[in-house]
Amino acid sequence: TKQKLWGGRFTGKTDPLMHDFNQSLKYDQRMHAADIKGSIAYAKSLTRVGILTEEEQVKITEGLVQVGKEWEDGVFQPQPDDEDIHTANERRLSELIGTLGGKLHTGRSRNDQVATDMRIWLLEQVQDIEQSVRGLLQVIVDRADKEKEFLLPGYTHLQRGQPIRWSHLLLSHATSFRYDLERLQQLIPRISVLPLGCGALAGNPFGVDREFLAKELNFTSIAENSLWGVGDRDFIVEFLMWSSLTMTHISRMAEDLIIYSTAEFGFVSLSDAYSTGSSIMPQKKNPDSLELLRGKSGRIFGNMAGFMMTLKGLPSTYNKDLQEDKEPLFDAVDNVSASLKIAEGVIATMDVHADKMFKALTMDVLATDLADYLVRKGIPFRETHHISGRAVALAESRKCQINELTLTELKNLNQNFDDDVRDVFDFVASVERRNAIGGTSLMMVERQVSVLREVLNK
Ligand code: ARG
Repeated sequence: TKQKLWGGRFTGKTDPLMHDFNQSLKYDQRMHAADIKGSIAYAKSLTRVGILTEEEQVKITEGLVQVGKEWEDGVFQPQPDDEDIHTANERRLSELIGTLGGKLHTGRSRNDQVATDMRIWLLEQVQDIEQSVRGLLQVIVDRADKEKEFLLPGYTHLQRGQPIRWSHLLLSHATSFRYDLERLQQLIPRISVLPLGCGALAGNPFGVDREFLAKELNFTSIAENSLWGVGDRDFIVEFLMWSSLTMTHISRMAEDLIIYSTAEFGFVSLSDAYSTGSSIMPQKKNPDSLELLRGKSGRIFGNMAGFMMTLKGLPSTYNKDLQEDKEPLFDAVDNVSASLKIAEGVIATMDVHADKMFKALTMDVLATDLADYLVRKGIPFRETHHISGRAVALAESRKCQINELTLTELKNLNQNFDDDVRDVFDFVASVERRNAIGGTSLMMVERQVSVLREVLNK
């Protein structure tokens, strides 16, 4: 117990199970570089207020660089009493430079230290994740741009609704990712609030220059309240919320593609690179990549819900419960990063079968257009909806398509039907009529492509 950083007031031994229960080094060692970075900056700030001499600061910095190098080279030797990454690094530093290592923690607490490390670490990850969101967005937009001519039924309730362009569907998912990108960027200033210098809870008694620390560590602002600084984990909650929502978007896109890759639809086939087989049914090619994307969204949401449950009801400032922020966060970062890359790969490599999509277009998806035809002849839509519905019912009873009804049959439903009704039964004409902003016409799909390319160029 005497070797423990906090062992001074203890005489009894820690229960061995408690020792393991308490230890976070196995997972928080991921933040080793952030921890070293924070400590190097803090040593500088201590020098500026005269706690360390220049010489001492150089020694401490060299020692910390050495500890960091040991982590990088995979030769850092954890000791049984290394409770977490902070104690491990400090213990090793003192082994390397002697008792001087013990000066580094002056005025600092693991409470402001861990909150700082988490923010440094997450800011780095967010940069990578932002690139992955951009990568996914890019392949969807490129694919939509190339496959603008393909038409398929658009579905509501998974029932055929109206004809749309395939690119329009792709771009609907891209639009979700566009706002995910925006939301991720908006998190950054709230992650980038510096806790270092908040001490254990009440603030730093040695007058360290926190503005200097923020500059050194590239933070955009400083925690203005020390109790908040050590106790806040909202930046983690927000990231987990972002992850949950982004994974929900990935999951919904995956679900579309799972349905479309069935033999019954046959609109897309996944590349072998993102499919797996069955151990018993030789013919199977399963969309496991997409199913995992859909499945992981549940787990990420669980990380968010679980951690919010951890936070709820905590008293102010630091409580050890907060150590439970790490595994859900790390798991979300790992799985969201991988999911974005897998989704990008799936979209980039799948085959799209325009012929099958076109074949799925049955004439009934033009029933709205038929009603609109009569609207253009001056009849109120509520009536034309009814008339077109009767045309659909009539075709159904005749076992034919609505375009196969004779003009006489149509005229029996409404006198305003004329020869030009033939023009209604054209899928391309139908999508081209949806030419208001946001519609599925060629021009509006091209507009979406250019809007999204502009977002990507920013
Ligand atoms: N490993 C701890 C955590 O992750 C570091 C902070 C410990 N602070 C304390 N007062 N015990 O939260």
